[in-house]
Amino acid sequence: MTQSFQKLRALTGMKDILPDTSWQWEQLEETVRQWLASYGYRNMRTPVLEHTQLFSRGIGEVTDIVEKEMYSFTDSLNGDLLTMRPEFTAGMVRASIEHNLLYDRPHRVYAMGPVFRHERPQRGRYRQFHQIDVEALGLPGPDVDAELIIMLNRLWKILGLKDIRLEINSLGQAEERAAHREALIRYLEEHKSILDEEAQRRMYSNPLRVLDTKNPAMQEMANNAPKLFDYLGEESLAHYQGVCKRLDDAGIAYTLNPRLVRGLDYYNLTVFEWITDRLGAQGTVCGGGRYDGLIPLLGGKPAPAVGFAIGMERLLDLCEQEANQTEQSECDVYMVHQGDDAQRQASLLAEQLRDVGLRVIVHAGSSGFKSQFKRADASGAYVAVILGENELTTRTASVKWLRLEEDEAQQQSVAFDQLATVLTTKV
Ligand code: HAM
Repeated sequence: MTQSFQKLRALTGMKDILPDTSWQWEQLEETVRQWLASYGYRNMRTPVLEHTQLFSRGIGEVTDIVEKEMYSFTDSLNGDLLTMRPEFTAGMVRASIEHNLLYDRPHRVYAMGPVFRHERPQRGRYRQFHQIDVEALGLPGPDVDAELIIMLNRLWKILGLKDIRLEINSLGQAEERAAHREALIRYLEEHKSILDEEAQRRMYSNPLRVLDTKNPAMQEMANNAPKLFDYLGEESLAHYQGVCKRLDDAGIAYTLNPRLVRGLDYYNLTVFEWITDRLGAQGTVCGGGRYDGLIPLLGGKPAPAVGFAIGMERLLDLCEQEANQTEQSECDVYMVHQGDDAQRQASLLAEQLRDVGLRVIVHAGSSGFKSQFKRADASGAYVAVILGENELTTRTASVKWLRLEEDEAQQQSVAFDQLATVLTTKV
């Protein structure tokens, strides 16, 4: 008797990407790699698992990510406290310090892959999602800050995306934030009766985040709160203007959003987000900024840095709306055969066709011609190559073109040794 087991399902908020959609991912990844290479960025791959301390120190103890969204656990084999990366930046910086990347010359690096945050899933918000993360390490800006934004603008153009707007802000330097923080705490104390529970809890530990509230009852209070931008000194303002001038040169529109603070604590000076209204509630496609303090915070010799991350699910959702990706067929050539000898010959010929760069599927298993032709058609192949007893005797394959106009010749015989030449000239 066979025992039946209960079906297992993927975890909530973690999606399978199946072959019918994975081609979109592959196309996007390829486009992104070319785009990054055109600005001199090189790939870097860091582990998915890191010591929890890296993120709590790097991202900040009093942030949503560290307080409530990390997949953290104790390794039962050695007691280590570990976390599935909720973002790339901290790990990339850790690796750069560990391998002494930072002190010979600047490095432009990128990574792509899954990150994990235990959030409430909805459209555009998942627990395992994917980021394209780009970091310019060792460069003080403002030129490189602007270059990153200009570069993103180019990606939107390459992908044919419309309706993405840019918001920028400056978070100044530590002393400027400290002066603003004091004024802000005083202001929040004056308005304590309006603050919700979370705001009251955070008003001393992370008052800037209180202004990031979604609570409608607190909007007016947040709008009128002292603005960090008004506390910026000359140098910070000059940095901000340096970015703006370059964006103006490039013809890129932006709005200053003085309440843009971002959800991670490591930022200073330039911060930015690209936002769209086409994705419902989760409209931020990309976020980033400068984080000159992170490298020393993680134990490295001080060095400036700036970067951003794009949410790939959100980007693909936008690409799909523009329908600007074309599905690739499974193969160019589908080999149809009848009988054991024909199958073996088909495998040999298929290898020769792959030698000349064709993508070939040899029908697997024994089925009738009719069902094999159905599979050939469904595969999207441009041509079917048919081998039966006759073909083996004459050493010629029957070639059936599957996607020609009605009035063109659909079928022809081609000698085995001519097959690669004939197919490559037509496919
Ligand atoms: P972040 O704003 O936390 O920044 O995330 C970047 C992007 O990831 C967001 O703009 C959004 O598109 C996407 N994203 C975030 N959470 C989710 C989610 N739960 N589901 C789907 N997509 C999501 C960072 O992670 C910084 N490390 C960016 C950075 C790099 N700053 C400097 N360098």
